[in-house]
Amino acid sequence: MSAKVICVTNQKGGVGKTTTAVNLSYYLAKDRHKTLLIDFDPQGNATSGLGVDKTDPQTLGFTMTNVILGSAELSQAIHPTKYKNFDLAPTTPELANAEVEMANMQRKFVRLRDAIRSVEVNYEYIIIDSPPSLSLLTVNGMIASNYLLLPVQTEFYALEGVAQLLESMKLVMKQANPNLKLLGVLATMYDKRTSLSGQVYAEIEKYFKKLTFKTKIPRNVRVAEAPSHGVPVGAYDKFSKGAKAYKDFTKEVEERTKNG
Ligand SMILES: Nc1ncnc2c1ncn2[C@@H]1O[C@H](COP(=O)(O)OP(=O)(O)O)[C@@H](O)[C@H]1O
Ligand SMILES: [Mg+2]
Repeated sequence: MSAKVICVTNQKGGVGKTTTAVNLSYYLAKDRHKTLLIDFDPQGNATSGLGVDKTDPQTLGFTMTNVILGSAELSQAIHPTKYKNFDLAPTTPELANAEVEMANMQRKFVRLRDAIRSVEVNYEYIIIDSPPSLSLLTVNGMIASNYLLLPVQTEFYALEGVAQLLESMKLVMKQANPNLKLLGVLATMYDKRTSLSGQVYAEIEKYFKKLTFKTKIPRNVRVAEAPSHGVPVGAYDKFSKGAKAYKDFTKEVEERTKNG
């Protein structure tokens, strides 16, 4: 059995990719699934959101930057988190430079896939947090994955750029990874007091139909506060609306991936 690999992606920034990657990983692990979160965004928000200091090489050890440059195996860059079943492969800002170097390397599109193959037997789920671009890192993420998970902020212009993302996905399927599937579209920062959120959700449903997750992630201050304490919202305030939504959403992900 090999891991189900899910790439959390949307080339827009600030739509909830990292928040979703961290909290999905947390609840999968809590549900006793052995889970690895790969921070594949040079901004390293997933790394710092889990309380790991990305500027301190002493505590950090090897990271995804080393893995991409070929100076470490992925297994060496995997660190346990304080949560059972939940491992993290952190990153540093230098991953951005590594991406530039990677452009001249052999097998540049499949470096992440090759790395994941060496550890995937150890996990049930591998979650990849990707940068806000359709860059070489993101393409590596798509090629390495079984599923794409698309968080969409329920705001104006929510679906802007989504067509382009789906084009990239098609291209990746044609050229490199025919089995890639869209796992679903997750509405984030939903505000039930505004009609706009409802309208955008309806628009998402109209376009993506059953691929739209039923759970909407509400805009919730506890979700926004948790990363500054270096913890997932489920560990920060498990009774908050945001934590509950991520827990429900995780059930939907488990259901959708149980036969795949
Ligand atoms: N459901 C939410 N409620 C309130 N704030 C949120 C929520 N989801 C994300 N945020 C905040 O919005 C910002 C962007 O989210 P993030 O997950 O970092 O997006 P991305 O990874 O797509 O750039 C962060 O400051 C995060 O804490
Ligand atoms: Mg992010």
